[in-house]
Formats: sequence, C-alpha cells, structure tokens
Amino acid sequence: MIVVSVLCVIVMVLLVKLWATKIRKPKTAKPIPGPEPWPLIGSLHLLGKYETPFEGFTALSKIYGDIFSITMGSTPCVVVNNFDLIKEVLITKGGDFGGRPDFMRFHKLFGGDRNNSLALCDWSVLQKTRRSIARTYCSPRFTSLQYATVNTVGANELDAFMTEMQKLPLNTPVDIKPVVLAACANMFLQYMCSTSFPYDDQQFKKVVRDFDEIFWEINQGYAVDFLPWLLPMYSKHMSKLSQWAADIREFILARIVQDHVNTLDYHAPPRDFTDALLIHLRDDPNMEWNHIIFELEDFIGGHSAIGNLVMMILASVVKYPEVAKKIQEEVDEVTRGQRYVNLFDKAAMPYTEAVLWETLRKGSSPIVPHVASTDTEIEGYPIKRGTMIFLNNYELNLSPQYWDEPEKFKPERFLSPAGNVVKPAHFIPFSTGKRTCIGQRLVQCFSFIIVSTLLQNYNITPGSEIKIKPGCVAVPPDCFKVILIPRNLKSN
Ligand code: HEM
Repeated sequence: MIVVSVLCVIVMVLLVKLWATKIRKPKTAKPIPGPEPWPLIGSLHLLGKYETPFEGFTALSKIYGDIFSITMGSTPCVVVNNFDLIKEVLITKGGDFGGRPDFMRFHKLFGGDRNNSLALCDWSVLQKTRRSIARTYCSPRFTSLQYATVNTVGANELDAFMTEMQKLPLNTPVDIKPVVLAACANMFLQYMCSTSFPYDDQQFKKVVRDFDEIFWEINQGYAVDFLPWLLPMYSKHMSKLSQWAADIREFILARIVQDHVNTLDYHAPPRDFTDALLIHLRDDPNMEWNHIIFELEDFIGGHSAIGNLVMMILASVVKYPEVAKKIQEEVDEVTRGQRYVNLFDKAAMPYTEAVLWETLRKGSSPIVPHVASTDTEIEGYPIKRGTMIFLNNYELNLSPQYWDEPEKFKPERFLSPAGNVVKPAHFIPFSTGKRTCIGQRLVQCFSFIIVSTLLQNYNITPGSEIKIKPGCVAVPPDCFKVILIPRNLKSN
C-alpha cells in the first residue's frame, strides 16, 4: 500500500513538473532553428553552391528540420518543407501571408510599382477585385461557354501554327520556340482581345520576345534581390527590364486597346476580357486606367508560361522516345489522322495529360515567396510581420517521402489502374489558397493541344544539348534546338 502511495506521489510530481515545463517553455518561445547569419550577406553563401536555391533549402532542412529560419542579406526568411506546413501558410493562415517580396526588379518590370502586377503585389481589396474579374475569362470551367470559346480559339490558331511550322526546315536542328510562343500569344490575344497577328509582324515578334525575356527574368534569383546595395552594379540590367515593359505597353495600347476603346458598346455584353476590364473601369470608382492595362498585360503575358512549358514537355519527350510514342498513339486513336486534336479529346487522352503533370512535377515550379503581412505564427513558432516565407515545393515534388522513384520521369504515376488521371493532394504546381494561380486552366488547355499537334505531325529528336535548370519552369529565351521528322499521316 505504501509503495503504491509513493508511486502515485512520484507520478503526480512528474506530471506537475511536465506541465510546469510546458507552461514555462511553450514552443512559441523557442526561436525557429536555422543557420547563424553572416554580417551583410546573411546565409546567402550556403545557397550559392546549388543550381537552384530550392536544392539548398532541401539540404538545410535535413539539418534544421521541416521549418527553419534563414537570413538572406538582411531579410529574415522562413522556409517550410512539408505539405502540412505549406497548407498552414497558404490555406489555414493564408490571410496572414498575403504579401510578396519587395524586390527592385519587380518594381522595374511593372512601371515602378510591383503592386501593379497581379502576381507580385501584396494582397489588397484591389487584388481581390482584379482576381474576380479575371476568373471568368482565365479560369474557364469545363462545361462553360468560355471553355467552348477557348476550344475554338485554340483550334483556329492550330491552322496558322502548323502553316508556320511547315516553313521550318526538316531533318535538321531548328529553334521552334519563337513559333511556339507566337502561337501561344495569338491564342491568348484572340481569346482575351479578339485579335491576333501574323507570325512575321516585326512588332509582334519583338513583343513576344520581350514577354519571354521577362518570364525568364521572373524565374531567376539575383543577389541584388537581397543585397540592394549592389544596385549600382545592376543599373544596366534594371534599365533593360524597364525598357521591355515600356515596349510591351506601347504595343498593347496602340495595337490592341485603342481599337477596343473605339468600338466598345457599353450596352452589349462584353466581347472579351478587354471589354470586361474597360466596363469595370467605368463602373468601379476604385479602378484606374493603369490598373486595367496592367491586368491585361499581366494576363496576355501568361502565354509565355505556356510556351515555356511546351518546350519543357518537348525536352522530356525527345529524351524519352517511348513517352512521345504513347502520346502519338493517343492522338492517332482519337483523330484517326483526319483532324487536329481539340479540348474535348482531352478525356480520351489521359497519358498526354499525365505527361504535362509529370513535367510540372519534375520542373517543380517554385511558388513565388509569400510575406507575412502581420505578426503571426507557423506551427506555434512566432513569425514577425515582413518575414519572407519560401514554400519548398521542390521538396514536395521530388522527395521519396511523397513519390515512388521521384528521380524518374514516369507519367504513369498520374494514372489510376483504370487509366484515369489522378493527382495526389500534395501535388500543387499551381499552389493553393487565396493566391493560387488564376491561369491554370488555360495552361492545361493550350499546352495540351499544342504538344499533341506537334507530335501528331512530327517525330521530334534533340537538335542540340538539352539542359533544363532544376526548380524552374522557364527555359532560356534562346534555348535548345530540335529536329523535326515528318510523320506519314493521311491528311489533317
Ligand atoms: C506553366 C504554367 C504556370 C505555372 C506552373 C504557374 C504557377 C503559378 C504559381 C505557383 C503561382 C503562385 C501562387 C502563390 O503564390 O500561392 C502562380 C500565380 C499566378 N499565376 Fe500562374 N502559373 C502558370 C501559368 C499562368 C498563366 C498562363 C497565367 C495567366 C493566364 C497565370 C496567372 C497567374 C497569376 C495572375 C498569379 C498570381 C495570383 C496572385 O498572386 O493572386 N499563371 N502561378
């Protein structure tokens, strides 16, 4: 009896001690683990040896854990490395993390103020409005009228695209990126602005190139982003960014918007996204001319993301001929060699769609960093307002914790035993939460028809060395070449 009483007392004392320790030392009191920063550069030196900072983040997470702090220059940052933490930042506490980094490059690209950009601005009421105007046009649902319009626009442009492709030499290395980008640009312009341009229009070609330069630029990281005292060394680079943006603006105003302003009928339903923006400008006292023009530019610019993704898909296709063959089998099956593919064939071509997902997984687009807009916390750790948050979806997409043989290019991983496309919840190439990508449906539509049509018409082999930068969904403006070998089809 005495022994039992003594044991009970010991257990009680232990429990009280444990409780007291927890009260005195809550997790929130502990700093987030992470490397000790150096003066001036913080911990940038730890990332320099990796091809992408995200590889560095994954390596550091093995030392410090799934959430760690790191100082970049003098900016306090936190890196989160697993799906639960990423969901906490993007969904559960999405409202606390609606800011974006304040990089000088971002200001240069958007008329001196990054808040002009939908992707690079801080969260605001204006951003909510801009997203909601864009959603109808840029996120068409499968059963909607808009989806049928996307299909028609895509189908019409395929004719012009293939006419242009047929001008390229066969059986020799060629650079097809400019033609692919021009096709994507025309699909966007037709869909959003009811206009398109001849592929040999010099101004159009220049603007498509400018957009592509900007897309590459946005996908790069520079020391000056975190070390603003390096700015004088980057003055030429910064002027180049401003010039690209200015040239794009001039083209869009003169060759697209002016005609819409002249012909807009405010009493009729909007003809397209451009009309919808102009009508909103009239009806919403909080909208300004600059807001709608930047929004239009932003969305037209989305075509570069798709052109680059098509090139990334081709990079895999030429590396793995068996992948190309399976896409061709699907295309031939649905079209019987008699017509081009259209969006309503997608359901019957799951392997082709799976190739898109596998390319995005391997490319592993980094999600644009978020910034805490208020003092908050992640997993109980305190986060100060202004802290930059990196969501390491490189780890999410390439870790054996989430994928079987993650290093392999296996589109089949996105197919169920019944052959349907399935995506695991932790696969979020377009992010999730209130700032999720608005263009993801257009990406799936246009990249699908372009890749299918190219492989329907050609066997494609490498025409130069193909090097893809890890953790990046862009290929350089001057990228790899391919060799086009015509397939023997009946006729289109
Ligand atoms: C390969 C193609 C693309 C990929 C992988 C991609 C991925 C992403 C990602 C990861 C984000 C960040 C979301 C976040 O911070 O939580 C984003 C934002 C965004 N994307 Fe995309 N995107 C693509 C194409 C497009 C296209 C074609 C458009 C336009 C038509 C577009 C429009 C946007 C916009 C406006 C945002 C900013 C949303 C906001 O911050 O509120 N994207 N995208």
